[in-house]
Amino acid sequence: MESVLKIEHMSKKFDDLIVLEDINLSIDKGEVVVIVGSSGCGKSTLLRCINGLEDIDEGQVLLDGETVNPGNRNLTKSREKIGMVFQSYDLFPHKTILENAILAPMKVQKRSRKDAVEEAMRLLDRVGLAERKDSYPRQLSGGQKQRVAIVRALMMDPEVLLFDEVTAALDPEMVREVLDVILDLAKQKRTMLIVTHEMSFAKAIADRILFLDDGRIIEDSDPKEFFTSPATERAKRFLRTFEYEK
Ligand SMILES: Nc1ncnc2c1ncn2[C@@H]1O[C@H](COP(=O)(O)OP(=O)(O)OP(=O)(O)O)[C@@H](O)[C@H]1O
Ligand SMILES: [Mg+2]
Repeated sequence: MESVLKIEHMSKKFDDLIVLEDINLSIDKGEVVVIVGSSGCGKSTLLRCINGLEDIDEGQVLLDGETVNPGNRNLTKSREKIGMVFQSYDLFPHKTILENAILAPMKVQKRSRKDAVEEAMRLLDRVGLAERKDSYPRQLSGGQKQRVAIVRALMMDPEVLLFDEVTAALDPEMVREVLDVILDLAKQKRTMLIVTHEMSFAKAIADRILFLDDGRIIEDSDPKEFFTSPATERAKRFLRTFEYEK
């Protein structure tokens, strides 16, 4: 298998607090890796360090063999290849759905408007929102906004997609429609790194589960194995928090 993303000995501190410690990871093309772990264990920081939103203290992140973190301004081209979708959609409120989708490709990638519109319409259609192209974000539901945010990330033709709890702010019915879009991306063999608290979704979509605890990857397992017989006591305890008993 061909490795796309590599993290070598990455550590990250916020002042004296060690948030990530000696993270080593290699992700293959087309692989879907799900990251789980308790609140505060470093999941968001890990994704933010991968796409260069945070500086790192040690180690490096490589995309296609090229260092993207630590980085400098010349590396924006490589960083564009890492797309990220957050819990908050961050759409421009005064721009329509279509304008939101085509803005970065036209500005950053200098694609023609005609080209960008064509591609945006194809992608909006794929997530069931083509007819909403002239709506503004405030006119859409949370689930619809999140699907637009995914389209916007896809417009940059990223090599790796990072998702940070993209359904955490949504009502249950809307969670499904967003997760279905991500499942569709997995079928298209997109390379993805997904942070989620939706365990049944994680089980369904993951090729690999990473269990993060206190800034370290303490399990890197096959999903079946992880959910039926996790290797560590810590993961067992974590998984029990998703079970209810009367
Ligand atoms: N900008 C920051 N400055 C200082 N500390 C931070 C900063 N961002 C995160 N932290 C700390 O780093 C640790 C990891 O935070 P992170 O947001 O990565 O956790 P998480 O696993 O994503 O948690 P959650 O599941 O709640 O989203 C936490 O202790 C947090 O308080
Ligand atoms: Mg987080």
